Amino acid sequence: MSHRPILVAGNWKMQLVAAEARHLAKEVAQAAADHSGTDVAIFPSFTLLHTARTALEGSSVALGAQACHPAENGAHTGEISTTMLRDAGCRVVLCGHSERRAAGVSDAEVGARVHAALHAGLRVILCVGETLSEREAEETESVLARQLAEGIAAVAESELESIELAYEPVWAIGTGKTATPDIAAAAHVFLRGQMVEKFGDAGRGPRILYGGSVKPGNAAELLAADEVRGVLVGGASLDGASFRGIIQAAAGGN
Ligand code: PGA
Repeated sequence: MSHRPILVAGNWKMQLVAAEARHLAKEVAQAAADHSGTDVAIFPSFTLLHTARTALEGSSVALGAQACHPAENGAHTGEISTTMLRDAGCRVVLCGHSERRAAGVSDAEVGARVHAALHAGLRVILCVGETLSEREAEETESVLARQLAEGIAAVAESELESIELAYEPVWAIGTGKTATPDIAAAAHVFLRGQMVEKFGDAGRGPRILYGGSVKPGNAAELLAADEVRGVLVGGASLDGASFRGIIQAAAGGN
């Protein structure tokens, strides 16, 4: 049902300064041009958006932001709105990254952000994932179901074309511990089932990305797992050669 290509997304988190960002964005643009059948996006920090936008001029790489506030504007010191992100050249925004959830953003607030972003004409990558203690308590599916349901509570079927999901087990983020392809597949198949339950066949459209210690050496096997249609990469997206290696793996190794 979905004809969207594989998506390789780089989450730069709170890393890099402008000169480094410029250099890396140019490397990413080149890698994306060399593998044009693969969708590529990067998520620099807010202060680097302008630099990255300039470096990506003429490139197919989508510029994204790591978070947004649900209000269009107002007295929200330290926050950033979807209108501002659009104005800064962003086409996509991460919602519900586990590092934002850990900083206090609730499931319902994630849903409000998803709604605001779609309303502003941004694409969304909605991140969900269980912690290690939730996995050990066999709560993985209930956590995923809850985070997904609240995240897409206000999403209409017609908006599904602007949304992707990312399964990011918290225990695999930045730890070097990658989920096995079987663990990833089980979670992705579960999420797909939830989407189809809510939206019918249209629920098959959104890509579900895997995130958590993805590297050039494990990207191909993860991307071969059931329902894995992209990767969200943190640490390994900060090095041009390793991010290129992941894009190459997504493109089938060429
Ligand atoms: P990691 O981060 O690749 O460094 O584990 C992934 C993410 O947080 O999106």
